[in-house]
Amino acid sequence: MEVEHGIEFLDNLVYAKTGKRLNSLQKAILRGTWQNLKYPEIAKTQFRSAKYVKGVGFNLWKLFSELLVEDINQSNFRAILEKRELLNIDLSTFQDSPQIKVVNSINVCSKFLQFPNSAETKPQNQTDRKWNASATNKKDLSEMPNLSSFYGRTQELTTLKKLLLQEKCRLLTILGISGIGKTALAVKLIEQVADDFDYILWRSLRNKPSLDILERSLLEFISATANTDNRRSHLIDYLRKHRCLIILDNVQMIFQSGELAGNYETGYENYGSLFRQIGESDSSSCFVLISGDKPREIADLEAEYQGCKSLPLAGLDVDAAWEILREHGFDTEEKWQYMINQYGGNPLWLKMVARLIRDLGFTDLWQESTFLFADLEYKLNQQFNRLSAIEKKVISTIADLGARVTTAQILAYIPQSELLNALQSLLRRSLIEKYVEIGEVYFTIKPVIREYVKHQLSKL
Ligand SMILES: Nc1ncnc2c1ncn2[C@@H]1O[C@H](COP(=O)(O)OP(=O)(O)OP(=O)(O)O)[C@@H](O)[C@H]1O
Ligand SMILES: [Mg+2]
Repeated sequence: MEVEHGIEFLDNLVYAKTGKRLNSLQKAILRGTWQNLKYPEIAKTQFRSAKYVKGVGFNLWKLFSELLVEDINQSNFRAILEKRELLNIDLSTFQDSPQIKVVNSINVCSKFLQFPNSAETKPQNQTDRKWNASATNKKDLSEMPNLSSFYGRTQELTTLKKLLLQEKCRLLTILGISGIGKTALAVKLIEQVADDFDYILWRSLRNKPSLDILERSLLEFISATANTDNRRSHLIDYLRKHRCLIILDNVQMIFQSGELAGNYETGYENYGSLFRQIGESDSSSCFVLISGDKPREIADLEAEYQGCKSLPLAGLDVDAAWEILREHGFDTEEKWQYMINQYGGNPLWLKMVARLIRDLGFTDLWQESTFLFADLEYKLNQQFNRLSAIEKKVISTIADLGARVTTAQILAYIPQSELLNALQSLLRRSLIEKYVEIGEVYFTIKPVIREYVKHQLSKL
């Protein structure tokens, strides 16, 4: 059974690190997890309490996360084993090897499992990248998604390239509402600037790795040494010596849900201090942060340092948005301009609505009104569930008042002390926009978001 091979490998690895073998309960947890069993089900087969098994499982994932330098848990264990081809490696290479020193365990990992920085270890889905970066630089793009098609964004790419290559920015933040195309833009950007960097690394924070795990994995890739007393200063040192491009995607995942934008979850505050340190340093490297919410320190750093910039991403222009619709089989351009506008040029929303229209085969309805459909509502639910109570109240008030409102109008319903923070936070999440006309400040809300909010209100 293929999982047995993986378990044997992990057992050897744990032995190398701790001098102890995996016990029968730990192996049963691995086998059960492989079969998608939950702790209570595994517990039954082992005649133990679910609570006890859960505790053992928790410690096991923690240990594997350290050894494999990747956040491992019950839900991603099988995928990681498969991704890293743990099941096919030749165990005889370090079979039963008490000689392997504890300090070598991470290197043992990297030798067999770590990042695909060479052609041989490159995963299948990386082989079809359309670009050919310099053969001299080292890339770890295993977590970078593949781009299917890409339209427009010429101006944004020019701006980002200028910031990276001419202004040598150290901290670049790409912001925007979910689905607007932040990740896609960064993938395209790498394609165009790769030759300028010694190392390029892409990391997603979707599974919320601790900073410790992230720093280890970065250091291990850049310097081949992760076990050091002062990891942070080693990392900063390497970032100074080498020109590295490090992309951190999904940064919003480490922020606390239910609070104002950009507040770190407990245990993740040290990310803020890393961003600050990078922003303040004289590093020749650059961190590109991709986030739905603007991290708190970014605004301060931008104000103080030339090398820190952010790019809030708006929707695609009509031509690019139209290409997406055409890809889905639509023909007459004129008819769909209204819809592109209603969905704010958001490529994800446009793709979703185009699929729906194509599947159902009707077209006329969409010219009359914005249409909130289940897939889109689900996506927006994820975002709105993260808002604080006061943000929900403010955005509901704006949606109720109209397409554009002044602060004075909102103040009739919400006290100033609460309103200002909430408005700033909603702006930081790109859920509302601000513009000034003849000296008056207006807040606006995208038609589809307005419809969503009103729909939620009608359910109350
Ligand atoms: N310029 C573009 N041309 C064509 N398709 C695009 C473009 N930008 C984004 N897309 C597509 O739109 C979808 C959403 O893009 P992407 O994942 O980059 O958004 P995002 O802002 O990173 O969203 P999230 O915050 O949820 O991660 C993807 O399917 C992507 O391929
Ligand atoms: Mg993304």
